[in-house]
Amino acid sequence: MPENAEESAVPPEVDTSKAHSARIYDYYLGGKNNFAADREAAEKVIQIWPARTAAREGRKFLGRAVRYLAAEAGIRQFLDIGTGLPTANAVHEVAQAVTPSARVVYVDNDPLVLAHARALLTSSPEGRTAYIHADLRDPAGILADPVTQSVLDFGQPIALMLVAVAHFILDEDKPAELIATLVDALPSGSYVVASHITMEHNPAALAAAQRAYRAAGVSAQARDSGQFAELAFGGLELVPPGVVLVSEWRPDDNGPRPTPAEVSFYGGVGRKP
Ligand SMILES: C[S@@+](CC[C@H](N)C(=O)[O-])C[C@H]1O[C@@H](n2cnc3c(N)ncnc32)[C@H](O)[C@@H]1O
Repeated sequence: MPENAEESAVPPEVDTSKAHSARIYDYYLGGKNNFAADREAAEKVIQIWPARTAAREGRKFLGRAVRYLAAEAGIRQFLDIGTGLPTANAVHEVAQAVTPSARVVYVDNDPLVLAHARALLTSSPEGRTAYIHADLRDPAGILADPVTQSVLDFGQPIALMLVAVAHFILDEDKPAELIATLVDALPSGSYVVASHITMEHNPAALAAAQRAYRAAGVSAQARDSGQFAELAFGGLELVPPGVVLVSEWRPDDNGPRPTPAEVSFYGGVGRKP
């Protein structure tokens, strides 16, 4: 088995000389699917903000939100945009542990995630998983893709997952319109799960982290809780406790939690009325 990404066959469309958000995040989470440019960018961020702690809390939030939707809200279909590289507790693993017939369409724009998509296509026999290589900035393309249309039933509630991805969409790309296009296509009773980086609790460090991302060629834009709530959950009913730090969203243990300045990462779940 190859020890790390350098020793595996890298598809030609993957530019390893440039940092990419999926691979930086993989590095934070202790994965091996990253390259020198990603590690260099990640280390610059880690020196100013404990991004590894935030990423771990972000993943735990994703797992709790999917479990809530599958176990308490009866959701069986998920459209997960900005899937990321394989790591523990993929959406289908968490959802199908509750509802084996759950269906998941994964979407990401990183060719390295595409190369690893096999790891996501391990559905239970009763359910289904599929992967499409597409960009959040093309919501109509995601919705019209034959894979999306064949795996998901748009007559039944769907959970749209936008976890740790909207902060890579700059205002000039009109993220509110992109998300509204996706939400408009979902039937009543559907949900949006989203998380987003913020500067509110640690302005100097997060501003420096944002500069480090941009210097590495990765678009990034932190937003405050009001901006995030409007962007991701405008017109939706927020599930309690609303928009909070990811570590505070229905925590499943009473253990010590990192400080708001360390987390600097909001999350929430909204229901389409
Ligand atoms: C920080 S990771 C989050 C992964 C996963 N959602 C999680 O929370 O663990 C962000 C992911 O979004 C993907 N991404 C960034 N911009 C995107 C875009 N415009 N369209 C689709 N995916 C995008 C990256 O390739 C990466 O896999």
